[in-house]
Amino acid sequence: MNDSYNKLIQGNKLFSDNKTLKEPDYFKNLSLGQTPEYLWIGCSDSRVPANEITSTQSGEVFVHRNIANLVVHTDLNLLSVVEYAVRFLNVKHVIVCGHYGCGGIKAAMSDKTYGFVDSWLTNIKDVFHQNEKQLMEIEDEEKRSDRLTELNVIQQVRNLAKTSIIQQEWKKRPLHLHGWVYGINNGLIKDLSVIHNGKEDIDPIYRFNF
Ligand code: CO
Repeated sequence: MNDSYNKLIQGNKLFSDNKTLKEPDYFKNLSLGQTPEYLWIGCSDSRVPANEITSTQSGEVFVHRNIANLVVHTDLNLLSVVEYAVRFLNVKHVIVCGHYGCGGIKAAMSDKTYGFVDSWLTNIKDVFHQNEKQLMEIEDEEKRSDRLTELNVIQQVRNLAKTSIIQQEWKKRPLHLHGWVYGINNGLIKDLSVIHNGKEDIDPIYRFNF
């Protein structure tokens, strides 16, 4: 029997012991509630754990992850997370964080099929298609997929800005949307500087008038 899962249970015990050793009331305090300042929308990839790569603790980051960090307007899961985070938790920053070497991006650039995820990745093929000229000028395939990773993040930040959830919040208070890309090969986050602070940052057709 493969009991490798026990490693997780033992690891959890170690985690719990370490925390309470340093701060006996750590979990008691955490259980009182959460007031995270950030919503993180990242890739499901096991190498991009939001808390670990940002040196943040439990309670600091509200997290949604899916394959290739997409913001799809019909995704009820994502929309629920975004609405709850901005309207009820009052997060100040929403971060879409992609990563170089993303398998989702690479699969979207290929003609291979992987099942159900093919439909999901068509969203990335659309980003490729919209930026085809720029991307095809990049000869190196790795660099081309790196650029598509960046363009994909930029598109997902725009998609967030297009939602009535975000625009309604902008009417009430400052809220900042960011686009970042994490480098698995060096552990560093690159800020793409595509910050969106209000509906004037998106094209007029997408602006709602409440
Ligand atoms: Co990925």
